[in-house]
Amino acid sequence: MIFGPPGSGKGTQAARLEDELHIHHLSTGDILRKEVARGTPLGQEVGRIMSAGDLVPDDLIVDVVRTRLPEAEKGAGALLDGFPRTVAQARALDSMLRDEGHNVDFIIALDVPEKLLVDRLLHRAELEGRTDDTREVIAERMREYHKLTEAVLDHYRQQGRRILHVDGTGSPDEVFDRVHAALKKGVPAKSRRSPRFRGV
Ligand code: AP5
Ligand code: MG
Repeated sequence: MIFGPPGSGKGTQAARLEDELHIHHLSTGDILRKEVARGTPLGQEVGRIMSAGDLVPDDLIVDVVRTRLPEAEKGAGALLDGFPRTVAQARALDSMLRDEGHNVDFIIALDVPEKLLVDRLLHRAELEGRTDDTREVIAERMREYHKLTEAVLDHYRQQGRRILHVDGTGSPDEVFDRVHAALKKGVPAKSRRSPRFRGV
């Protein structure tokens, strides 16, 4: 799992980890944006919520993940980005994984100061024009993160999961080096011998 506030670099680092570890990157934000672009019933339901910077309902996103996770987990496993985002989602994921006999191996938590997050997202707005990258909507996304998502980390801390805090400032390459080092240090060599950690 890769965890962090909006703009912390989850997608950027997950793409690199996908290349390096051959684990399947499962980003709920990317999935939902595709549904919106295609104008599917799901896309129509969530488009306005996303543009406002709010979280879509738990049952809806849990269904999306429930459908896609088994396929994503095949091979070396899945790297979850943007899910779970509430404690209710985390509980739903726990039960899905339990049914499969799997669990959360590690959580990379990217730490980035809020001012830098906002700068990055406003910069992306100029390049890509994501509808939720306006100053006002970014503020709402940050509020949702503090109100609902931060608690997910406590949920996993209480379970004793491996939470690897990584300084997410600096260039994407610098951050990736730290992610790499954190995995090497934080995940025991025995676990790293599994196909999941081929590149580390
Ligand atoms: P989602 O797509 O998950 O967006 P987010 O969490 O707000 O985060 P971002 O994707 O904007 O940032 P990121 O951390 O991936 O950083 P990135 O690598 O892109 O969710 C969008 C919406 O979908 C939600 O608001 C909600 O409505 C809905 N949703 C999704 N999942 C949901 C769920 N589970 N439950 C309910 N609702 C859900 O980087 C950001 C920018 O910075 C990029 O331009 C990048 O190039 C740049 N950058 C990255 N790293 C660096 C660096 N080191 N230095 C300089 N620039 C950098
Ligand atoms: Mg992202």
